Parts: sequence; C-alpha cells; structure tokens
Amino acid sequence: MAMVKVSVLLIGILTGLVFGNWVDGFEEILNFNETAASFLDSEHMEAFGASKAARATDVLMVGLTLIQGADAKGAVCMDGTLPGYNWHRGYGSGANSWLIQLEGGGWCNNLRSCVYRKTSRHGSTAYMEKEIAFTGILSDKAGYNPDFYNWNRIKLRYCDGASFSGDSENKAAQLQYRGQRIWLAAMEEFMSKGMRSAKQALLSGCSAGGLASILHCDEFRGLFSGNTKVKCLSDAGMFLDAVDVSGGRTLRNYFGGVVGSQGLKNTLPRVCTDHLDPTSCFFPQNLVDNIKTPLFILNTAYDSWQIQSSLAPSSADPSGYWHDCRLNHSKCSPAQIQFLQGFRNEMLKALNRFSLSKQNGLFINSCFAHCQTERQDTWFANNSPVIGNKAIAQAVGDWYFDRTSVKAIDCPYPCDKSCHHLVFRQA
Ligand SMILES: *[C@@H]1O[C@H](CO)[C@@H](O)[C@H](O)[C@H]1NC(C)=O
Ligand SMILES: *[C@@H]1O[C@H](CO)[C@@H](O)[C@H](O)[C@H]1NC(C)=O
Repeated sequence: MAMVKVSVLLIGILTGLVFGNWVDGFEEILNFNETAASFLDSEHMEAFGASKAARATDVLMVGLTLIQGADAKGAVCMDGTLPGYNWHRGYGSGANSWLIQLEGGGWCNNLRSCVYRKTSRHGSTAYMEKEIAFTGILSDKAGYNPDFYNWNRIKLRYCDGASFSGDSENKAAQLQYRGQRIWLAAMEEFMSKGMRSAKQALLSGCSAGGLASILHCDEFRGLFSGNTKVKCLSDAGMFLDAVDVSGGRTLRNYFGGVVGSQGLKNTLPRVCTDHLDPTSCFFPQNLVDNIKTPLFILNTAYDSWQIQSSLAPSSADPSGYWHDCRLNHSKCSPAQIQFLQGFRNEMLKALNRFSLSKQNGLFINSCFAHCQTERQDTWFANNSPVIGNKAIAQAVGDWYFDRTSVKAIDCPYPCDKSCHHLVFRQA
C-alpha cells in the first residue's frame, strides 16, 4: 500500500515536471529546459511501469517518419525541416480503420517564444525523439486499448506552433508558420498509404492537438466519402475564454498573440470568422456548436493546465495567494475552490448546446488533470478515472461505435474518488 502511494505521488510529480514542458510561452510556471524535459520524458514513461528492461518488449516504441516532398508544398516545421509522424500499422479487423492523433505541446505567441520554439522538439523534427512510446489510445494491446489497439494509429507531430492552423512566414526571423499546409500534406500522405479506403476514421488529439482536432474536424470528414464512419475526439482541448483571478483575460491575450503572430484570421473556420474576431475563433466554445461531424469532448472540469496558465498564472497573482493551490489542489482554500467551481460551471455552460446533439459525446470528469487519452493510467487501467463505472476508453468506444450515447458529466469536486490528479513540484 505504501509503495502504491509513493509511486502515485511520483507519477504526479514527474508528470508535473513533464507537463511543464508543454507550457512553452508560459515559462514562469515552472523553470524548464529541453534537456531536462527529454530526460524526464523517459522517467515519466518508467513511472508507468515501463521499466528500461520492459520498454523494449512491453511498451510499443514507434519510429519517426518524415513526410518526403512536403517541403515542395511549403509544408514545413518552423525551422524549415520536414514534418513527421509515427505510424503503427493496423491489422486484422483494424486494418482498414485509422486513428489520427494530433500531437499537442502549447503554442508560441510572439517573436521571442517562436524563435525559441524553432530549436525545440515542438518546432523542428531535427529536435524530435527518434522514436516514441505508444500508450493509452495509441497502445497496441487489447487489454490496454480495447477498441483501437489494432487500428492504424498515427501520431502526427506538432512543429508549427499554432495547432496545425497557420499559413504564413516571418522571413526576417526565418520562421515558417505552416500548420495548415502540414495538416494537408499529412492527410495526403496518409491517404496514399491506405487511409483513402478507410472504413472507419477518428481524428483525435490532446491539448493544443485537442484544439486542432476541433479546428480540423469537418475538414477531416470532408476527405472521405459517405461510406466511411468519421468522428473526432478532443482531449483537453476545451480552452475557455475565461476571466483570471485578477479579473483579466490571460488566455485571451495569449491566444491573441498566437493568432496575430501567425496571421490565423485567414485559416480559422470561416463559419466563425465571418461573425467573430479571429481570436474568439481560436476558442472552442465558439466553434463546437457549428461542427457537423460527430465530436466527443473529453476534458476535466478543473483542467490543470488552464488553472496554471489561464486562471491563476503568477502574472495574475502578484501576491502569491494562488501559489500553493495552483500546484496542489488539496492546498486550495474554500474560496479558491469556489472560484474553480465557477470555472466548471462555465465549462458546462459552454458545452450546453453541444451536448444536446445526439451524435456528440461528452466526458467531463471532476479531476485536476490535463490530457487523459495518451496516458495508460488515465485511459484504461484497473484504477483509471471513471464516471459511473465507465473508464474513458470505454466511454469513447461506446460513443464511437454507437453502442450507447455518452453524455457523462461528473458531480463537482471533491466527489470523484477515481481521479488521477496532477500535483506539481513546488517551484
Ligand atoms: C538544462 O538542464 C540540464 C540537465 O539538468 C543541465 O545540464 C543544463 O545545464 C540546463 N541548461 C540550462 C540552459 O539551464
Ligand atoms: C498536496 O497537499 C496535501 C495537503 O496539504 C499534502 O498532504 C500533499 O503531500 C501535497 N502533495 C504534494 C505532492 O506536495
């Protein structure tokens, strides 16, 4: 028992450290550098039972493939390198089914943060790991991933800085903002590798990738004929246009920088930009009601990234009142919890109309976490988070295969005892 507790704590801490790495552009949250980050990524994996010895045999490692010829289409990473993906081929009953998981990893919002990003694994395939672990929704084991384990599973790597949606450049700074072209070149590549004859397809992604799966959902369906079952899943992509603890709009200001520096007004969904400003159209709450393709929204009601970076960042908390609560939810005062309940209410309100549509799915659990599909412990495990006894993998599978309707909304914190909360290192 003591062992279990220690390892859960360790997972929380390591995840916290790794997680900090996604928060490029929000460096004030955790001190970080890329060397330390990639070291911790492997530590992180081992914390999930993939010891060094087991890694080769148990956890599937999948190599990076570059999209040859993408540069001729102007589809390049921020530094001009070819974009890439990791693909594990489907087999058996999954041979004609395709899961595309869009990688997340924050954004850059100004020249300084984009120049920095260009020489990191989120801005260049030259800096990416040569292979990555496929776990959770990417796992190849039926026991870990009951519905998608034998599908073609692809992780499309994120190297454009704006959720796969830019199409511009900053010549003077030698920065390419080509997310939209990367998206298109990747889809052409997958079509040519067999996705063209897919019977089933699911576009997914987490964090900045979860936002991208919303932004590209209808485009994705448009690639297929009416005979293909196409749906989309957004994990931790429900970034709210929320008021922070000082009454400001930290995330709106930040997204304004992303949208402005990459000139996204031309590439964001026109059904939104024709009546709202482009920054608003980077917020899913202004997009999800108009998506025609069946969409599943998975998010925690107390998204730990949003608490740290949008609601209570240190820039909005000069007195440090939120410091301890930001890093560890059990240190929040009743007033702070009440503020966070307000955020949950906003989340539910933003999804109200969306949830009325029969084809959509919903799983909003009352946990302090961010991204639950790619981690084995949150996707599907003996003690993974549940709502009404249903784990996330089961909820998503039930919805995708139309076994049951899934509109799962948890009771407010602290009622859920199945959470895997993230607890961050004291900075
Ligand atoms: C980054 O972290 C590594 C490993 O901890 C360390 O050796 C290196 O000096 C750090 N670099 C910077 C710029 O802080
Ligand atoms: C989080 O806070 C609780 C309550 O103060 C404490 O018992 C626990 O050890 C803290 N966790 C970490 C990882 O600091």
